[in-house]
Amino acid sequence: MSAVSSAKRLTPTRIRAMKGGTPIVCLTAYTTPMARLLDEHCDLLLVGDSLGMVLYGMESTVSVTLDMMIAHGKAVMRGVAKSCVVVDMPFGSYQESKELAYRNAVRILQETGCDAVKLEGGEEMAETISFLTARGIPVLGHIGLMPQQVHTAGGYRSVGHSEEEVARIRRDADAVGNSGAFAVVIEGTVETFAREVTRAIPVPTIGIGASAACDGQILVSDDILGLFNDFTPRFVKRYDELGKRVGVAAAAYAEEVRSRAFPTEKHTFKRRS
Ligand code: KIV
Repeated sequence: MSAVSSAKRLTPTRIRAMKGGTPIVCLTAYTTPMARLLDEHCDLLLVGDSLGMVLYGMESTVSVTLDMMIAHGKAVMRGVAKSCVVVDMPFGSYQESKELAYRNAVRILQETGCDAVKLEGGEEMAETISFLTARGIPVLGHIGLMPQQVHTAGGYRSVGHSEEEVARIRRDADAVGNSGAFAVVIEGTVETFAREVTRAIPVPTIGIGASAACDGQILVSDDILGLFNDFTPRFVKRYDELGKRVGVAAAAYAEEVRSRAFPTEKHTFKRRS
């Protein structure tokens, strides 16, 4: 459980009340040190299943397990004092039935001490979201581009380009936005649609590649910091190049070890007299 009382953190109810106000600031966090660094700047930290690709080098999020999400959820909770913490439900942990979703969401909440869970899905998941929220589990929805559906979607592509797609995600937004979810992540969607949905649904929209029209924004922290360089989606803005700086630091260390410039006297223990 968290060392910090949940009373001091932003609650899902307060995030919901931020609809239409100052944009909601969200980032991913997977570890205690990163959570400590990001916490004071964010309203919401997401323990995203993107950790499968970013931390574990997996090809997609499909192989991420519930145990992985719980372990990283616990780690993040140890580093957070004020942000609302949401843990992703991984692929296979909620789609089969609302009862399975409930049991696994309860595990996530009880074992990590986080504030809410997130699950991907449109119309087809609305009943599950209502089932969970009616039973005390705050849920963050996720529509538009849904990475857990990479195999059926045929890749990671933005959505909302055809009339058929717009009609489908309009139904998804309406169903999830009115299901009891406290907010909805909209990923990889054209601006006109994001604006329309943000006006239409009663809860905040949190965009990732969904334009400035949303009520808030979320990005993967490793993307904005330049720590994840396998690929950079068009919607990511790099705020630093820490990956390159890690390379420079490691090269300097290697050179000093090989030339015996490190360690020096300063780094060496001497027997106390
Ligand atoms: O897994 C993830 O990190 C997400 C995002 C919305 C960034 O779902």
